[in-house]
Parts: sequence; structure tokens; C-alpha cells
Amino acid sequence: MPELIAMLHSFVGLAAVLVGYNSYLVPGEGGKIHLAEVFIGVFIGAVTFTGSIIAFLKLSARMKSAPLMLPGHNYINLGAIVAFLGLTVWFVLAPALWLLVLMTVIALALGLHLVASIGGGDMPVVVSMLNSYSGWAAAAAGFMLNNDLLIITGALVGSSGAYLSYIMCEAMNRSFLSVIAGGFGSDGAITGPAVDYGEHREISVEGAAELLEEAKSVIITPGYGMAVAQAQYPVAELTTKLRAMGIKVRFGIHPVAGRLPGHMNVLLAEAKVPYDIVLEMDEINPDFDDTDVVLVIGANDTVNPAALDDPTSPIAGMPVLEVWKARNVIVFKRSMNAGYAGVQNPLFYKENAQMLFGDAKVRVEDIIQALAMTRV
Ligand code: TAP
Repeated sequence: MPELIAMLHSFVGLAAVLVGYNSYLVPGEGGKIHLAEVFIGVFIGAVTFTGSIIAFLKLSARMKSAPLMLPGHNYINLGAIVAFLGLTVWFVLAPALWLLVLMTVIALALGLHLVASIGGGDMPVVVSMLNSYSGWAAAAAGFMLNNDLLIITGALVGSSGAYLSYIMCEAMNRSFLSVIAGGFGSDGAITGPAVDYGEHREISVEGAAELLEEAKSVIITPGYGMAVAQAQYPVAELTTKLRAMGIKVRFGIHPVAGRLPGHMNVLLAEAKVPYDIVLEMDEINPDFDDTDVVLVIGANDTVNPAALDDPTSPIAGMPVLEVWKARNVIVFKRSMNAGYAGVQNPLFYKENAQMLFGDAKVRVEDIIQALAMTRV
């Protein structure tokens, strides 16, 4: 879905560019305000177009999610915006096609550079920011076409996208400007110096099933890996099974778990997990202390204690699910690789944490089977 959304944003951007050129080239009303509308509309459209294509390539892993860090990249962005403002004044005073073409090239390059400089951890904000741009591009097309409906719907999408970006920045404890300035995050590989946190411990499927059988309360915290493995159906089945055994099971959902706002909620709803046991991070965080087993299913950045403990960490200050406070934590993932932000996770080395390696769907199915065996 995030890839598709990014792709669709690029269509809106391209449409705004084409409408802009059409409205300039086809003779009609040509007042100064109309010229400014055309110029601004084409600019927003072109930035949205290339920015969304890069977002699509990054989200679909066709392009490295690590940020492209050209020297002086902030000055490149600033220079492009200053050039755009100068060219706008020039175009309004002395309209010429070459000015429109020159600005379009600058805007296309700006969209490309802006999103290429942003790393994996900040992609959710970028997608929502591009959503906002696509709204403003549609509104600009509405001005050029004298279409009130397009102006209103575009402005609605533009402003709600901007507000969603703001809320996401709050959830990740990052300022909007630092996101735009880019340079954060990677894909799987650890960025920065590797820290030695000691040895991690592993648990077998049987061991995990035993811990669950003895538990009174269990919290499941899903992340991007659950979506990749499509493990939501076995997770829902395991939940039903554990509840039938009289165990209290709840889910803790981080606001930016997965790759899309509400990603985990959609998957769990699809697998028919009851809504009343799916809780937000703020609601569930005080309860980890009193929990026997936490199952971390394909989550990494969203359960990383370094966000709270290490002020030098790239994700410092981001609120996280405090799973390590539970008596036992079982982490389902395939390796010791980092999550989307490229940050090592000290949770994996904690005394009460054990790794259950493998594909999350296969491992959850194995546990369901192991539980069935012991109950025969
Ligand atoms: P991540 O930190 O991305 O970690 C996901 C983990 O899942 C990986 O470490 C990976 O480890 C594991 N995994 C992948 N495939 C798996 C499989 N088949 N079976 C089992 N495990 C698998 O996930 P998160 O905790 O959900 O955090 C989300 C991150 O993405 C945040 O940094 C957030 O800012 C960013 N982000 C969020 C959004 C939105 S809007 N939610 C959008 C874009 C980016 P292995 O490789 O070792 O298996």
C-alpha cells in the first residue's frame, strides 16, 4: 500500500505539471495572477512527481533507503527554492516558455534530491508530506482550471496531509525541518559504530510454547516484519488459542510500526483480531511491568530501549513500547539485523529477552502446533 500511494501521488504531480503547461500554451486569459498560478502549480507538481517516484523506489526496495548525502545538500535545496522565487517574479513580469521549462527542470531535480536525502526512518513523514504536496498540486490545478471542487478537495488533502506529517514528527520526536534536512536511517545495516552489548540468547519453539502456557498475561507487539511475513493470520489464531486457555492477551501498537500509518491495525483487523484488545502505545506502556510474556513479532525500532537510554542514538527521544519491563520477551525475527532506522537494538541482549529466529509466520505456526501437542 505505501508503494502504491507513493506512485499515485506522482500521478497527481504529473497531472498538475501537464495542466500548467496546457493552461500556459493554450491562448486564453493571461493575467498576472493566472501566470503566477501556472508557475507555482507546475513547481509543486514537478517536486511531487519526482519526489513520489523516489519514495516509491525506496519503499519497494528498488533503491537503497540509505540517505544520499551530497556535500552542502541543504544549500542545494535552499538554492533551488531561491531560484524558483526569482524565476516566478521574472515569469510574471515577462512570461516566456523557457523560464517555465527551466523552473520545471529545477523543480524535478529538487523533488528528486529532497526525497533521496531522506533516510528510511523518516519515510513515513515523507509519504505523508508528499500526500500533502499532491493535495496542493491538485488545488493549484484547480486554480488554473477555474475548478472550485478541485481547489477545495486539493486544499483538504493538502492541509490534512500537512497535519498528519506534524503528528508523525511528534510520534518520532523529530522536528519537521530536521526530517526535510534528511540524512537519517538505512535498510537493515547498522549505521554508525557497532556497540558490543554482549551475547544474545535464543529460545526454541518448545521453550516459547512452555513460557506461554505458564503465562497469565501476554502482550503482542507487531512490527514491519509481521507485515512482510504476512503473519497476522497465525498471530490471530495464536491469540484465540491463548485466550481459550484463559490467558489475557493484548496487542501494543506503536504509532509508526510498519510502513504506513495504521499499518498494524489494518492487518490485525483483516485477521479479525477483536478491536478491544488492540491498544495504543500510551495505553499499554504502563502495563508491561505486570506482564509475563511479550511477543515482539517483526518489530525492531519501535521496541528499541536506546531511544530512551542513549541520548546519542539517532532515534533518541522517540517514544517506544517499553517491552523490556515485562518478565520475559520473545523476539521473532530472522537475524540480528537492525530495523529500518539502521540502529542496533540493546533489547536483544537483555537478560529477560530471547530470540526466536526465522520467518515470523512459520515460527508462530510452529508455536500453535507445539501448544496443540502439549494439550493432547
Ligand atoms: P523495523 O524497525 O523496520 O524492523 C522490522 C524487523 O522485522 C526487522 O528488523 C527485520 O529483522 C524483521 N523482519 C523482516 N522480515 C521478517 C520476517 N519475514 N519474519 C520475521 N521478521 C522479519 O519495524 P518497526 O519496529 O515496525 O518500526 C518501523 C520503522 O519503520 C520505524 O523506524 C519507522 O519510522 C519506519 N517507517 C514507518 C512508517 C509508518 S508510517 N509506519 C513508514 C515508513 C517507515 P530481520 O531482517 O532480522 O528479520
